Amino acid sequence: MTDAKYDVHTGSDIRDAAGLTQLAKLSVELILRLQDGTGAYPASPTFSAYRGYCWFRDGAFIADAMSAAGARDSAERFFDWCARILIDREAQIHDIVSQARSGNPVPDANMLPTRFTFAGGDGEDEWWDFQLDGFGTWLWAVAEHTRRYDTDLTRWSEAITLTVDYLTSSWHRPCFDWWEENADQVHVSTLACIAAGLDAVATNDSLDSELQRDALQTSASIRTTILKQGLSGGHLAKWLGSAAVDASTLSAVAPLGLFPAPGDIGGATLEAIDRSLNVDGGVHRYLADTFFGGGQWPLLSCFLGLGYAAQGDRNRALHQLSWAAATSDSTGALPEQVGQHLLDASMTQEWVDRWGPVAQPLLWSHAMFIRLAVEVGVLEVLPA
Ligand code: BGC
Repeated sequence: MTDAKYDVHTGSDIRDAAGLTQLAKLSVELILRLQDGTGAYPASPTFSAYRGYCWFRDGAFIADAMSAAGARDSAERFFDWCARILIDREAQIHDIVSQARSGNPVPDANMLPTRFTFAGGDGEDEWWDFQLDGFGTWLWAVAEHTRRYDTDLTRWSEAITLTVDYLTSSWHRPCFDWWEENADQVHVSTLACIAAGLDAVATNDSLDSELQRDALQTSASIRTTILKQGLSGGHLAKWLGSAAVDASTLSAVAPLGLFPAPGDIGGATLEAIDRSLNVDGGVHRYLADTFFGGGQWPLLSCFLGLGYAAQGDRNRALHQLSWAAATSDSTGALPEQVGQHLLDASMTQEWVDRWGPVAQPLLWSHAMFIRLAVEVGVLEVLPA
């Protein structure tokens, strides 16, 4: 990323209104430029451990940001990519669903992977596979996209049906979380992504009525489960039964809106995360994080900003956006995390030795920057 076109740091301060707008536009261009011909969004083009792979989680949030910014075709090409992957695995999904429904669920290793090669394969590299959240998030993003553009889900209905079956049959299984850790737990952010996705497609008229009913019943069960076991001190907890705070639960507040920001749980979650994980605008994943030393993640700063925006606090939202902007390098590339406030500095080198320097650019960081920039009016929706 040394393309002079992206030298955004000459000229205005990156944190001025003009600088923020410029970085948001650059982010859209960067994602368009790096989106694969297949529709896949690379997590990071350069980072050793992510190169060549696309995650449903990252990708769905990236597609949502591109959709919100007016890059409709880019988002749709990603949804087509998701749909192809799911349809190609139809037999596997049918097997997972029928085994789950007969009380004999398949082992984790037979569930869908978390990330895929651009061609849609599993890839050769070992990964912390079996994570459910991305399949919910893609449902949410595609439904949100059709709502935004006043169209319907027909183009993706076959893949949506498979996903709804997959999630309604398996939502309660423990799996790895957003951070690809703690596979033995049921994570609140994972549940929130699933419920938001099921709600979003079920309230869209393109689904068959039986499937709609299944989706709504499951999302209601998920809400009940979270209310009973997924709260601690009134805020969303890291996993069912845990008292810890995790910034991935910000997504349940905004943009997913499962526990809206003006409500008690949404408000308490923003407050708890602000109190324990937000340092000057830079948000940590969770207090015990040691990945690359446990730094601050600009994408999480933007999630918190989306929460503030949903509360009507534009100034705080803008502060979050500015903090994220300041993590960009001289080419405008946003990293996965920065090490200016580390939770465990003794762990940084171990990760650098293993995987090299922190991922930069990370497309998900750019996406959340775009999404918040649109929300606070720093980026006007681009002409389609
Ligand atoms: C993060 C995941 C993310 C992946 C690709 C991992 O380090 O924990 O949340 O999906 O990187 O960006």
